[in-house]
Amino acid sequence: MQLADIGMIGLGVMGSNLALNIAEKGYRIAVYDREPPVLEKFYASSGALQERIIPCETMEQLSRNIIRPRPVIMLIKAGAPVDAEMQKLKAFLDKGDIIIDSGNSDYRDTVRRLNALGENDPTFVGMGISGGAEGARNGPSMMVGGTVEAYRRIKPILDAIAARYKGEPCSALMGPDGAGHFVKTIHNGIEYADMQMIAEVYGILRDACGLPAAEIASVFEKWNQGPLNSYLIEITAKVLQAIDPETGRPVPDIILDAAGQKGTGRWAAIESQILGVPATGIEAAVAARSISSAIEERRQLAAIYGEPVRAGYVKADQAFIEALEQGLLAAKIAAYAQGFAVMAAASKEHQWNLPLATIARIWRAGCIIRSQFLDEIGEAFASHTAQEQAVENLLLAPAFTAQMARASQSLRHIVAEAVAAGVPVPALSSAIAYFDALRQKRGSANLIQAQRDFFGAHGFRRIDKTGDFHGPWGGL
Ligand code: 6PG
Repeated sequence: MQLADIGMIGLGVMGSNLALNIAEKGYRIAVYDREPPVLEKFYASSGALQERIIPCETMEQLSRNIIRPRPVIMLIKAGAPVDAEMQKLKAFLDKGDIIIDSGNSDYRDTVRRLNALGENDPTFVGMGISGGAEGARNGPSMMVGGTVEAYRRIKPILDAIAARYKGEPCSALMGPDGAGHFVKTIHNGIEYADMQMIAEVYGILRDACGLPAAEIASVFEKWNQGPLNSYLIEITAKVLQAIDPETGRPVPDIILDAAGQKGTGRWAAIESQILGVPATGIEAAVAARSISSAIEERRQLAAIYGEPVRAGYVKADQAFIEALEQGLLAAKIAAYAQGFAVMAAASKEHQWNLPLATIARIWRAGCIIRSQFLDEIGEAFASHTAQEQAVENLLLAPAFTAQMARASQSLRHIVAEAVAAGVPVPALSSAIAYFDALRQKRGSANLIQAQRDFFGAHGFRRIDKTGDFHGPWGGL
């Protein structure tokens, strides 16, 4: 029998869809799942693609059915299962073969797994995939971390199955070892911020303006034709239009307001803190999800203090709807600026040489945060030659300065209105604070330095002379 070009371990939603995508693009794929019924069901439902799928009952069989050097994608639950399956798989592979972990793994685990491999072991690639089940089946965005040699072997397959933006595949090598999973983590952090800011605007329209779901849907639908055009705005309009067949009510109105989280947004916030690069939009989004889940605590506080919202406080006239659109755009620019700044810092820290323009480009299609806006970000990074200093904060990029100067006025206005109306907008307000703090020539940290020196003799610098000084704190 003709051998497969690649292998797949794990036929859950993502694995099976990615395997079908690979087979559809003309590649032969050997597949394995530790649950035999899952394998059978997958194979039985693969239709005409069966001729390019080799179902394998064991990992050993899978390894015998792939052309060398053998790439094997693992799409299994992140964490300990990856270590366990990798340990088993390794025994059937040789030097030069490639184990590809495509789950949402912590990049630190990816680095550890790679470093634990011996001289004669296969190599290890950490590949972030975005786009959910639909993306996996029809074209995801893929962020690869590993050696150039391993990437070369899998590149034709990845390029064939990836989403395309104006013909360019949304897949690329991000750098060595954990680079791919790190970039995916920041993608998810930005995804959290984006979703939270959209939800806050929805909250303003629903609670401060008193609009019903259908009208809010129309607002988002219209925005999707403008500068906010993106997958997340598009699906927001769609979910707001959906009607619950049981009650006849808009579906969002019957969903409990407690957001889940699997951890990648939290990792992004933690990494930004470790690197000392603020990602306040991501932090606010993670915290907001946690607060949303504290249902009992919220109930108790509402009983003691009353609910904050002043319904009907803001009139949803055209001017305010436009301010919301511009304000959301400004907050989005700030959140993306933060995410890219975190990646720039990680790139230096780990010497990954992350291709920031390429990252923006492979996020233009296929992934959850896909948008027109990422094309502009890609341009902003690409317009800088290697000799010039790379733009490390998008707010400094000429392409964004005029937009931000204008849109930030609206952001300030909508945040002020939301606060006055009692609608919590932690991500939107963090964005205006970030922007204001960054462009403030003289902030208030001089007082913090004085306090630090007062209680700990930590010293401070003066504005009028160089050196390290202490204050006249009364002989303390
Ligand atoms: C993607 C998504 C995907 C998944 C997240 C959701 O890029 O395709 O980010 O990875 O939907 O894991 O994360 P939460 O469950 O934490 O919201």
